[in-house]
Amino acid sequence: MKLNIALLAGDGIGPEVIDQAVKVCDAIATKYQHEITWQPALTGASAIDAVGEPYPDSTHEVCANADAVLFGAIGHPRFDNDPSAKVRPEQGLLKMRQKLGLFANVRPTFTFPSLIDKSPLKRERIEGTDLIILRELTGGIYFGERDRKDGGNTAFDTMTYERHEIERLARKGFDMAMKRSKRLCCVDKANVLESSRLWRETVQGLEKEYPEVEVSYEFVDAVAMRLVQWPNAYDVMITANLFGDILTDEASVISGSMGLMPSSSVGSKVSLYEPIHGSYPQAAGKDIANPLATVLSAAMLFEDFDLTEEAQAIRDVVNKSLAEGIVTEDLAADGKAYKTSEVGNWLAENI
Ligand code: IPM
Ligand code: MN
Repeated sequence: MKLNIALLAGDGIGPEVIDQAVKVCDAIATKYQHEITWQPALTGASAIDAVGEPYPDSTHEVCANADAVLFGAIGHPRFDNDPSAKVRPEQGLLKMRQKLGLFANVRPTFTFPSLIDKSPLKRERIEGTDLIILRELTGGIYFGERDRKDGGNTAFDTMTYERHEIERLARKGFDMAMKRSKRLCCVDKANVLESSRLWRETVQGLEKEYPEVEVSYEFVDAVAMRLVQWPNAYDVMITANLFGDILTDEASVISGSMGLMPSSSVGSKVSLYEPIHGSYPQAAGKDIANPLATVLSAAMLFEDFDLTEEAQAIRDVVNKSLAEGIVTEDLAADGKAYKTSEVGNWLAENI
């Protein structure tokens, strides 16, 4: 297969982890005779520095015309403590999600047998965890009306949802549930928020179209607790943008390191693949960041092109590296810590 992949390395550790994913994908391409063309493009703080905006039109052009987008991370500390900054790297990510129509963010959480004891949670609680949080990505409070009033002394952000936005996300959730354990949990705050009541109403309306799926409705605060107490209670979860943002960071604790969990963002056209971790600026340039979340995101990419064997080959080699202790310092404990680039080289060679 010929694949034209937009490569958005971004900021912080983004370029380093992306490099390893490229090595792995190239090794897969060689082994399975695919032809990958990489199209690098600017995003994030590095794009602000180069051209004054975090998601320039030229980058959008590259992404919109690609078969898929592989994304590293964006964010830079010099913007975090400056609430008055007019242009921020994160705006690039939001603009990209919106312009590419990436309304569904697929964030799986699973455990690796060799890493169960790395999680701060007890083995018997998390063993066998395999869930997907399907986060709405182009609506809600991230994109609602926001402003200041009263001379800057009052600020507001609005959580707005239209029925069709909830429905298209929920349908993806139902479809996913049908392919898995046929359980779907709608996570909301319907005891307080009107937008959440529309979520419930919409999802309830779809239930009859998927009679085999057992749907539950839970409040997000309770889920925040249950998710770490008993993650096996969940399979496919659907939720609004902000709730999903928070719950997916929380869920990553189950796997033992934030550096492990991949994600995909899908819409009607091109999809984007990225690790769920951020730009981890403290580690930038040190060759110490864990590249596995990005590598596993590449596996999700192959999977979506029905290249199942290729995806499995990536997951297998990742499992092998974990089992053999070829890991970066976040996972090394008393063992040897390998550099980001060494892990990438090892993975590529072992493919
Ligand atoms: C994520 C990130 C982003 C988000 C930030 C960087 C805007 O936290 O992808 O989860 O909040 O969506
Ligand atoms: Mn987040």
